[in-house]
Amino acid sequence: MSDYRHIEVTAAAHDFGAAIRSVNLAGEISADVFAEVRQAWLRHSVVCFPDQPLTHEQLEAFTQRIGPFGLDPYVAPMADHPHILELRREPDERATVFGGSWHSDWSFQEHPPSATILHAKVVPPVGGDTLYADGYRAFEALSPRMQALLMQLNGLHSASRPYGPQGFYAKETVARTVKILPNQTAEAVRAHPLVRTHGESGRKALYINPIYTIGIEGMSEGESAALLGFLFEHMTKDDFIYRHKWQTNMLTMWDNRCVMHNATGGYDGHLRLMHRTTVKGEIPLGAGV
Ligand code: OGA
Ligand code: MN
Repeated sequence: MSDYRHIEVTAAAHDFGAAIRSVNLAGEISADVFAEVRQAWLRHSVVCFPDQPLTHEQLEAFTQRIGPFGLDPYVAPMADHPHILELRREPDERATVFGGSWHSDWSFQEHPPSATILHAKVVPPVGGDTLYADGYRAFEALSPRMQALLMQLNGLHSASRPYGPQGFYAKETVARTVKILPNQTAEAVRAHPLVRTHGESGRKALYINPIYTIGIEGMSEGESAALLGFLFEHMTKDDFIYRHKWQTNMLTMWDNRCVMHNATGGYDGHLRLMHRTTVKGEIPLGAGV
């Protein structure tokens, strides 16, 4: 695309999702090239870089170029790499797919990750796509009245459903390769604006997800469930979705501030192996009302 002088960008529908070529992530990335990579990420929210074989150290170095490492609770990191999670699902594994429902990573944190970076080491021949939902366009498609209402509200976020002592993983009985660490701290509840002003793009996005957003501040359970149910259904309409197909050695980086994602299965009988880092983000800003 002509907007870029140093990188080659191929955008998906509605500019949501893009592939970036002509950059070597394993080498020194000049300030000019890096600025364009960041610009493309902010514009497309999900960017992938095909054909990028990387060592753990190179993945760490690229992550830190984006920003400081985030905190990754509830999942045991790699033994020698405290900031890398290994997402490994064996061919004979029958546990649910990690990340296999709509969510925004660690949205219950005070500083939820801006970026999640996933590097594909082994990609199954079928299945294993990742879906992304565009929080910007989903917000923009709502009526001005609904937008105005949502801009005054805070969502309540908690890790309790998956990671609490009574949560999904604590009760799991089938074997799972990824070591999950349920913990009492998952019961904490934190409020974040339902409509988030992105700290870098300045655009407004829906900031909700059905795993961690457990209610709306000041509303009854029924009211919260009705409004959140509508919003989850709205945000996951086909028109707002990008389906990401992986290749071996592809690095994908997405923006949790304006995107939900969902790992799909469909690859029983095949290994899938990814390495994952996160970048610490800002405290979510409201919509300025
Ligand atoms: C994650 C995640 C998606 C996938 O790493 O946060 O949700 O497709 N992964 O593995
Ligand atoms: Mn995730």
